Amino acid sequence: MSSPTSSAPGVRQATFRFRCIGCGDLSESASQNFRCPQCKDLLEITYPQGKESSFDPTKLKSTWRNRRLSSTPIDQSGVWRFRDLLPALASEGQAITLREGNTPLYELPQCARITGVPRLLAKHQGLNPTGSFKDAGMTVAATFARLAGFRWVACASTGNTSASMAAYAARGGLRSLVLVPDGKISWSKLSQALDYGAVTCQLRTDFDGCLRLLQELVLRAPVYQLNSINPFRLEGQKTLALELLEQLDWQPPDHIIVPGGNLGNSSAIGKALVEMRDLGLISRLPKLSIIQAEGANALVRTLREAAGKCLISVQAETRATAVRIGNPASWKKAVHVLEATGGACEQVSEIEIAQAKAEIGAEGIGCEPASAVTLAGLKKLVKLGLVKREESVVLILTGNLLKDPDFTMGFHRGDLFKGTPDETASAGLNPLRRPPMVLDATLDAVIGTLEQSEKS
Ligand code: F0G
Repeated sequence: MSSPTSSAPGVRQATFRFRCIGCGDLSESASQNFRCPQCKDLLEITYPQGKESSFDPTKLKSTWRNRRLSSTPIDQSGVWRFRDLLPALASEGQAITLREGNTPLYELPQCARITGVPRLLAKHQGLNPTGSFKDAGMTVAATFARLAGFRWVACASTGNTSASMAAYAARGGLRSLVLVPDGKISWSKLSQALDYGAVTCQLRTDFDGCLRLLQELVLRAPVYQLNSINPFRLEGQKTLALELLEQLDWQPPDHIIVPGGNLGNSSAIGKALVEMRDLGLISRLPKLSIIQAEGANALVRTLREAAGKCLISVQAETRATAVRIGNPASWKKAVHVLEATGGACEQVSEIEIAQAKAEIGAEGIGCEPASAVTLAGLKKLVKLGLVKREESVVLILTGNLLKDPDFTMGFHRGDLFKGTPDETASAGLNPLRRPPMVLDATLDAVIGTLEQSEKS
């Protein structure tokens, strides 16, 4: 069956240009480091002015809805389904897709009660093909890497980007090079990159060191970088917000809360919200708030100590290894997003992250530690009066529970905080722990356990 709607009248795939977020310079092409040749700021993708006015919001919404009935790969992708707002492809077959996106929006009734908001939803990006939100960006960026004629793609990563990149490279017949900090990423993520055939280098440095090295590498070797500095990544990640608003029947929630690491995702979601408002797809902007781990709080400090004017880097340390990033590349884009939407930026402790992760798990949903900062952050925003008790909130869960089993096992066994300054305080988490029990293989032992659990 062919797509019923890809050539719908009035709907087009967008032609694009690169725009420097600092000086506003427009260009048809970008250098390998995706920085402005004049002022060295990051680039974003923009679509020629005036074109937007030809968009008919009602027609677009029905085109996107109808594409869900199609069986073509490009329409089955929850990213390319929104291709009218993405850089144009010459033909549909060019897209490298694993049918990413199409992620569920769940109610979190118990977490809503805990936080005191009436309606709490979670958009679970961890249910993408490789288990994280990175797939939405990777399908677009890997596609354009191949179109640009590259044989090799590369990234620095705390694990999820590398897993995603390796998968899309393999699907697209590209070779991939992964730079990860040695000993600082979860085995689940590392094993994905290996299985998808990446050349995987564990470097004796942190994420920031890996990214620095990659920036030099791309200027010396013919490899195409797929970190979120690459603006094609952010265009793909934009569709998370389009899909979310479609799931909400285009009624914006009051707040969207997202974890902040290298700050690509918050930048992408913010760009999508502004574009949706400008195109008349939504009538008002939700507030987009960014939450960081206390030990990796570069954006929090940048806003508090430098009023968002210059980056304050930190030496990052957190058990939420996905966001163990001290020198976030897209900090300036994130500051713009906070300003545009009126969102807040907060930090949460290791104990608060562990507690929130267990609470999301207890809803039968689960996520990786970095995603749980959103719920921990919401509690804080409610306490500070930045989220009002009558407001609707959506948490963006960025990674799957299975991404970091060591964290989950450590939590439930009770060793997560052993020997750390948080050990005493972590006793407060005991009611949430469900440690596995080793028993004799007898009926009495199992029934005794059942009775004991019924009482607790
Ligand atoms: N959540 C998860 C699960 C992540 O993997 C990341 C980033 C983030 C949140 C933060 O998103 O960087 O766009 O602000 N992971 C990267 C990686 C950096 O290499 O996988 P961000």
